[in-house]
Amino acid sequence: MIGVFDSGSGGLTVLKEVRVRLPKADILYFGDIKNAPYGTKTHNELVRLTKDAVELLQSMGAHHIVSACNSVSAALALSSPLPHLTEMTEPTAASFRGTPARIVLTATPATIDSQIYQRAFHEIDKEIATVAIPELAGAIEFGSSDAEIERIIRDAFATVDLSRYDTLILGCTHYPLVEYVFKYIFKYVPIEIIDPAVAVAKRVEERLAQSEEGGGTTRFLISRESALFRDRVAHLWSHVGTPRIEVIE
Ligand code: DGL
Repeated sequence: MIGVFDSGSGGLTVLKEVRVRLPKADILYFGDIKNAPYGTKTHNELVRLTKDAVELLQSMGAHHIVSACNSVSAALALSSPLPHLTEMTEPTAASFRGTPARIVLTATPATIDSQIYQRAFHEIDKEIATVAIPELAGAIEFGSSDAEIERIIRDAFATVDLSRYDTLILGCTHYPLVEYVFKYIFKYVPIEIIDPAVAVAKRVEERLAQSEEGGGTTRFLISRESALFRDRVAHLWSHVGTPRIEVIE
């Protein structure tokens, strides 16, 4: 079984891509909504939350973990040794190897302050610009209006000269949930918006396509009740009926 986790709904954007590539895999998803947002937490807090999430998924039978949360990528190495793990940043950077892309990456403060993306891109001889947005993941998780989301994004990019870039990476898995707002704001800017979920899901497929032949079940755990999370899952899974979502303490 594959275990996927995030602070809440953001990882659903990764789960969706993994599901398309591995239709027969059994997947257990954990959204730690009680502790969301992760992106403004300290490194030590993220190490603890990461360890708890990974242990929870492993205790329920997951033997490969997909960390569908950029904010914890720097914490993963320190939480527990995990040979069977796929995280967001390295596959994303690797997908740009050898390309001429001029990249600006937007993510939570935890992700950007950890320098993990900057280092991953440096490894492939690329320097990137970054834009941290402290409020955005929480606003998405807890259902702020599109107008409020638009204000937050516009404020964050107010002083960024986008003419210097041709690629905008959404380096927080919550952000693709409002990709339409990014597209609306940047509709006259010649910049390609990239959702790293695609590169990460490809990596998961490469690693697990041979071994993950199950019943294709998807089960969800959340650490706090959330009608919005249920709506998002129902929307994603509308073609296969209502999946099971359990609230755990
Ligand atoms: N979706 C996660 C990420 O990619 C966490 C966002 C948050 O909870 O702040 O960073």
